[in-house]
Amino acid sequence: MKQIKFVTAEEAVKVVKSGDRIHMSSVAVTPHPLINALVERGRRKEIRNVHIQHIHTEGPAPYADPEFEGIFQLESFFVGSNVRQQTQAGFADYIPVFLHETQRLIRDGYVKVNVAFIQVCPPDKHGFVSLGTSVDATLAAVETADVVIAIVNRNVPRAFGDAMIKLEDIDIFVEDHSPLYAPAMPPISEIEYQIGRYVAELVDDGATLQMGIGAIPNAVLSMLGNHKNLGVHSEMFSDGILPLVESGVVNGKNKAIDKGKMVATFLMGSKNVYDFIDDNPMVAMMDVKYTNRVNIIAKNPKVTAINSALQVDLTGQVCADSIGIKHYSGVGGQIDFLRGASLSEKGKPIIAMPSITPKGISKISPILMPGAGVVSTRANIHWLVTEYGKVNLYGRTMQDRAKMIISIAHPSVREELEKAAFERFGPHFHFIWDGEQ
Ligand code: COA
Repeated sequence: MKQIKFVTAEEAVKVVKSGDRIHMSSVAVTPHPLINALVERGRRKEIRNVHIQHIHTEGPAPYADPEFEGIFQLESFFVGSNVRQQTQAGFADYIPVFLHETQRLIRDGYVKVNVAFIQVCPPDKHGFVSLGTSVDATLAAVETADVVIAIVNRNVPRAFGDAMIKLEDIDIFVEDHSPLYAPAMPPISEIEYQIGRYVAELVDDGATLQMGIGAIPNAVLSMLGNHKNLGVHSEMFSDGILPLVESGVVNGKNKAIDKGKMVATFLMGSKNVYDFIDDNPMVAMMDVKYTNRVNIIAKNPKVTAINSALQVDLTGQVCADSIGIKHYSGVGGQIDFLRGASLSEKGKPIIAMPSITPKGISKISPILMPGAGVVSTRANIHWLVTEYGKVNLYGRTMQDRAKMIISIAHPSVREELEKAAFERFGPHFHFIWDGEQ
């Protein structure tokens, strides 16, 4: 078994050369000690033109700041809140890509990784360490990087599945036992509970769930206590799922693949989530090429994929990555899972969102804002849910869609939306929708 020799983060990042591309592990295991040491080298102008990529990191991301122009160039696969302003201002950039293909960009050499920054748990007696909460595209980076630098951290959970790698896969070791990033869970509002109720009505016993983080997924999960035999095959899960595992509602019995197991590729939640996956054979942390591949997702029955939107137009086009031309997030796994759910037996792709923003702007509008990014096309959309109800647009005409979507828009904008639909579709358009689905 390979013997570990620890060096300091400052020593470790000396391998980074000008012109290199660095891949960083994501979210809860963002490699902050290595980031800090790298940024110091940048500040001392020891390196230039270093490209940085990651899905999204949490905590400070100084490498994206304007002061490092010409030193670091961020090219992320998803724009998280810590780099949003810098990306919108043009100092950082974004590579649009389906989450399931982030690994492919790396493995097929579209982006050549020179150095991978990762975090792992301490080794077991067989010389294996776990990537813990971030397997996603990180495993592809470990496989292809010229140099792999790992922070060994006892707070990284020993997760199974593709997360397990060998000590031999790592070149340089740094020790740091900082707690993992654990976001505060937002309180669930009455509107989100109402959306959760409508979505929960769409979840059948035996369904396989995919959902992200946030108040709406947690509201949905809080209403599934009387369901039976649910499974999880998702890109991620968070705290809301834990009580359902505890009570046996989530048991994976009905899954066609990975029966009895919960499958994800990255995780973000409280320490409870990280403790839950530690040494837990019920959880498989898998490569994103597996979790997010459409034909694999579709193998499970009743895949119920719950995603969100920034804006939806009257025909069902979904903008989920920008507010007009202002880039906000990313394509992520939305299409991977909407397609996978659509192709799964009795699957249900769902877009769930409040009808208006906290500032009172309708998220349903006649047309998308100029520059808005269509993440899911009108052909991808099935169920659309707001706090005013749920409609299934799949197989519906453009005019029917407009009527159905208006019926769940905020009441204050329905008249304006009807007028817009009338202008678009002509005098044959009569707004009569009786809610029948
Ligand atoms: N017009 C103007 N502003 C809008 C808007 C609109 N139509 N819709 C939202 N906003 C603003 C909100 O006011 C809020 O502003 P704030 O940050 O100043 O409070 C911000 O945009 C975020 O809106 P919100 O509706 O709270 O977004 P969210 O956090 O629920 O995230 C997505 C929604 C679509 C961005 C997110 O789900 C995403 O990134 N999806 C794409 C990837 C994906 O689906 N992956 C699979 C699941 S992990």
